[in-house]
Order: sequence, then structure tokens, then C-alpha cells
Amino acid sequence: MPKEFLDKNDIEFNFIKNKVLSLRKEIDKHNIAYYVYDSPTIDDLEYDSLMDQLVKLESSYPSLINNNSPTQRVGSKPSLSFKQVKHSIPMLSLSNAFQDTNIISFDNRLKSFLFNYELINMEDNIDYFCDLKLDGLAVNLRYEKGCLVSASTRGDGYIGEDVTANIRTIKSIPLFIHDSVPDVLEVRGEIFMNHKDFQRLNDYQRLNGNKTFMNPRNAAAGSLRSLDPVLSASRKLNFFAYGWGEITGITDNLRKYSNSDHQTDLHSSYHSSMLNWISSLGFPINSQYHRVVNNVNEMIEYYSEINILRDSLPYDIDGVVYKVNSLYFQDLIGYSSRAPRFALAHKFSPEESVTQLTDINIQVGRTGAITPVACLNPVIVGGANISSATLHNENEIIRKDLRIGDFVRVRRAGDVIPEIIGPVLELRSQDVIFFKMPTLCPVCKSKLSKIDGESVIRCTGGLYCSAQLKQRLLHAVGRKALNIVGLGDVLINKLVDSNIVRSLADIYDLNIELLLRIENIAIKSATNLMESIKKSRHPKLDKFLFALGIRHVGEMTAFAIAKRFISLDSVINCSLDDLMTIPDIGHKVASSVNIFFSEPQNIDLIRLLENRGLEPESFVVESNNLKPLDGKTFVITGKLKNLSRENIKKYIIENGGKVVNSISSSTNYLLSGEDPGSKLIKAKEANVTIINEDDLLSLVERINI
Ligand code: IVH
Repeated sequence: MPKEFLDKNDIEFNFIKNKVLSLRKEIDKHNIAYYVYDSPTIDDLEYDSLMDQLVKLESSYPSLINNNSPTQRVGSKPSLSFKQVKHSIPMLSLSNAFQDTNIISFDNRLKSFLFNYELINMEDNIDYFCDLKLDGLAVNLRYEKGCLVSASTRGDGYIGEDVTANIRTIKSIPLFIHDSVPDVLEVRGEIFMNHKDFQRLNDYQRLNGNKTFMNPRNAAAGSLRSLDPVLSASRKLNFFAYGWGEITGITDNLRKYSNSDHQTDLHSSYHSSMLNWISSLGFPINSQYHRVVNNVNEMIEYYSEINILRDSLPYDIDGVVYKVNSLYFQDLIGYSSRAPRFALAHKFSPEESVTQLTDINIQVGRTGAITPVACLNPVIVGGANISSATLHNENEIIRKDLRIGDFVRVRRAGDVIPEIIGPVLELRSQDVIFFKMPTLCPVCKSKLSKIDGESVIRCTGGLYCSAQLKQRLLHAVGRKALNIVGLGDVLINKLVDSNIVRSLADIYDLNIELLLRIENIAIKSATNLMESIKKSRHPKLDKFLFALGIRHVGEMTAFAIAKRFISLDSVINCSLDDLMTIPDIGHKVASSVNIFFSEPQNIDLIRLLENRGLEPESFVVESNNLKPLDGKTFVITGKLKNLSRENIKKYIIENGGKVVNSISSSTNYLLSGEDPGSKLIKAKEANVTIINEDDLLSLVERINI
């Protein structure tokens, strides 16, 4: 309408209209600064006043109200159900990978594809865009001429639910794009809930007697799919854009973000530049964690870095996503029916999974301990492929109510050995089988027996049981013991099964000819093995003691015994009391050692080994390694005159001694200050030497008292 024909009302209306439009633009700008970038450009009061002005103008001129207004985020009434929306471009899924090797194959696959198209050389690498894989819900936001016209969930990928009303309540999602935009622009990304908002929501739910949500993802889904936008608005949801759907009517603005000036289509762009453009329109993107990498090692590096900081993020992620950065390459590589071939989700492996318990096997250990072991359908848990898990003992199976054929939950965190948590009872079928512990050893058919007070069942076959023998041999030749390289479980099984080896001593009777008689052994391996056996004839005393496989004697204990008795003969001849003088060796360990050396068959074995040239080296006392209070145990009582309790303790420990709280037969000294307590009497009764601070100093300086 020509200006001169406008009456006063029209002029006023136009003025108001312009005012409303500029207020909306300004408020939207502040919204983006606040909700997208977390950096407000004005304070709350100023913002409220702008909003107030807009609300007032709109209520006086209702004809100006439209859906693009920031005042209209919460407005519609609860609906009875969601409308269905057909996606103009399907919302596909992503292929998953859990292991580094999968990433390497993915990269190789794409490289050879692009090489075959003569788009890259053999030695070229592909650039990948890396992003976090948010654990939320995918949405498609459709803008027509800059207005948000529909927001939909992924649904089955082809048809989703219309959640526009709820999406409009999310402040970081623009209702209107003020920049010049394509006629149709679909922005895709993830809706998610921050941990703190999730906690707050669950606290609120609990307080009001409502059901709580399992995790932030469920809470986000529940809120987004609530039929009441007012309720949805009260729950704080976030959004990060990670991609796009339909874009028609490309604008100069978009072209600016494309890589090459002379090309006018998207093929000249990168995923990274497209996301920058989307961000410039006012959409939040997770740029803090975006990275463009240019080889497979950097992809894996990105994954590891993110894995480390995963727990410190304010939201849940379940992995990272890699996308070929070049949109031209993306287009050529294309899609399968369910996922793009140019993208891959590198997921954090779940620390818990469900799989089927297919059988329960019996394992016979070195000391005859019988352990039931679960056979599982292989499943990836905590980054490893798990196909078996120990069940410890029969009671454990009963306690957990496990039956063969059950679906079970398996847990494994980090390096921890996998554990079966329990059956998924909802999945239990009629034909699951009760497990019955055998009464005879499955290997040697000897009786199984249980020592009172112990939960372990043992095979009574001793070395007659080939399973026990194999385990003992494996232990004895292991790296921490005699360190015979090349003698692994496969060869030991063959040597025992063919009756060539019946004891550790027989290993030292092996020769090349004997070894070569065994299938699949090459001359080279046989020669190397003979060399390694030869070298093992002079083990350090502690390694030899460890190799003997005495119950309760681990590496550390073996070392302590060797250090205390220096030679093998003194170990063999030592008494229970001698053993008890070693710090950290209690009655259980001492008597186990004592019993071992009082059994004639064990001494026979040692003599047989000696006859075959096995000669443990005596323990070498490295004088500078010894400390003046080594092996001495102290108890402190009363008030000390020079040093505090803490410092005296430190002093004793630094000089090799040990401080305990109460007097026992293994206490060497009572360090007594002023006003000693009952410990003094006890020390006298137990014949413990009583010293003062000066005496302690003399002891350390090796002056005898
Ligand atoms: S790209 C063709 N990037 O993961 C699908 N997806 O498992 C392209 N997701 O439905 C998706 N974070 O909901 C992409 N940075 C990210 C993502 C992401 C989370 C979700 C998304 C998708 C699912 C696929």
C-alpha cells in the first residue's frame, strides 16, 4: 500500500509491528547468547523488560502474535497423542564399533573405496570429523522460510512423532532464524538432559511420590514425549545439532561456508563447515569437543581422550562418532539401508551385558581346587570379548540361582575379571538345567572332598591327577618362577598326556629327539626350548621357592623366606618358629611351608631336581639394601620426649622396622616413654626388650644394646 494512503492507525500499527519484530530479533539474539553460548549479553532484568514489552505489545495487538515469537514457546494445550511425521529424508542409524581394529578396518575400507575411484592415492589419508555420541534422542527440526514448522523424533527412521510443541519449549532451539536461510532447512541433532537437571527432576518426582527415571536418556525421552508442553517446559532439556536433513533453495550465506568459491553445490563443503554454518544461524553445536583428524591413529586417540574425560562431562555419552569430513566423499561412499557407510559410532563398551549361560565346566587347579566355570555365548563387556567367567564354587551358583541355559547379566569394569551378576528371570525358559556338582574329579576320577570351614572342593588325586600336574608344571615354568620360555599350556598338555613328563624333574630329562617326537614342534622351537631349560637350572632362591607352588607362598613371601634363610638347605631345615620370625608371615603361611618341607615326596622332588643339575642360587645379601631395623617389630607406649609418635613411627619404618599396636610373641622391642600403659607389663611378661628413644637411635646406628 502506498505510504500516502495509510491512515493514522495504519501508521501506528506499522510502527508497532516493526517494534514487535525488532524486539523479537533482539530477544532471539540474547536467547542465543544465553542458551546456546552460555554467555549472556544482558542481565536478567533487562531481558525481562524486553520480554515484558513484547508481551504487552502482543496482547494489545493479538493479530501480531505468531508462532515465531519468543513469547510463544509454551502455548499449546496438551494433546491426546502425537501426530505422525514422515521424514523427507530418512533419519538413519549409525554402525557401531567397539574395538580399535574395527576402526582400522573402517578406515581401510573407505580408503580402498576412494582409491578405486581414483580420488585418493594409496598413501593418502582421509579426514574425519569427530564428535561426541550423546546419549539422548535424535530430532529433526524443520524450518520453512526461517520458521520452525515441525520437530519430530526419529521414530522408525522414516516416520517419527510430531513433538513440535515440546521442542518449542527448549530455549536453545530457535523458533525463527533471522539470517537469510534456505527455503527449507532441516537441522538434526540430539535432545538430552544434563546430569544435574536429571537429579533435580528425580528429587522432585520422589518428593511428589511420582515414578523416578532410570537415566537421563529416559528422562529426556519422557519429557520430550510428554503430551503436556507445560510439563515438558518444566524439565530442562538441551540440544546439540550434529547434522542436517533436507536443505532446498541454497543461499549465498550457505555458499560462504562451502570450501571452494567456484562450486555452487554442497559437494564442495565439509561436514565441519556445514556445522559452523548451522552454528552461525543460532543452533548449539558441541564445538568444544569437535575435532577434524587426518588419520586412523588420531581417531583412536580422540576416542581415548574422550573416554578419559567421559565421567567429568555434565551429560551422558555412549561413545564418539566419526564422519568422513568431505561431503563430496560422503556422497560417493553413500548409505546402506540403515546407516551411512561414511560414518561410524565408536562406542564405549558397556560394562554390563546380557548373554546366555550355555554350560558349566569344571576346572581343576594346581592345588586340586575344583572351580565351576561358566561357558557363555561370547559378548563384549568392558572392552573385552567374554566367553567364560568363574563361578567360584557351588554355593555361589546356588546363591545366584543360576541354571544352564539361563540368560545372565555379566559385568566387567576395566581390568577386573568378568563376573556373572545373576540370571534375567524374565528370560528364563522351561528347559533350563540345574547344575549338579560332580562327586568325582572329571579328570582323574579321584574323589572330591571338602575341608570343613573351606568353601572349596578339592580333587584328592594329588599328582596322580594330570590336571593338577599340568597346572603345577605351568606354574613352575612360568615367567615369575623358573622362566622356561616356550613351554606353554599346549606343549605341557602334550607332554603330560603322552606320559613323557610325570613331574617337574622330567622337564630336565627332555632332549631334542624327545621333543621332536611330539607333533608340530619345529627344530628351531625345540632348540630354543632346550636352551631355555638349560638356563633355568640356576634360578634365584626366591624364584625356586615360588616355583615349588607351596600353598599361600606368593612371590613376595618366597622373597621374604629366601632373604631370611639365604640357602635352600636352611629353608628346608627351618622350624615353624623360625618361619614365624619373618615379618608378615603368620601362622597359616608358616605352617603351610613347614608341612610342605616335611612331606618326603616334596624333598624327593627337590633331590631329583638337584640330581638333574638344578641348583638354586643362594640369596645374595646386598649390604646397601639392608636397613638397620629390617625384620624388627616395635610397639610404642607412653609419652616420648623428643619426637612425636608420628615421627618416631616414620623413623622406624624408614629404617626398615615395623610398628604394630599390641605386644605379641613376634614383637622385638617396646619403645617406652613417660607414663607407659599396660603394654609395659605385657612386654615384660612376653620377654620383649624394652627400650627408650636413645636406645632406638643406638639401634639404628648399629650400636648393640
Ligand atoms: S550422526 C545417520 N552424530 O546416535 C545418522 N549421531 O546410533 C547420523 N547420536 O540416531 C547420526 N550423537 O541419535 C550423530 N554426534 C552425533 C550423535 C549422534 C548422538 C545418536 C543419534 C542417532 C544415533 C545413531
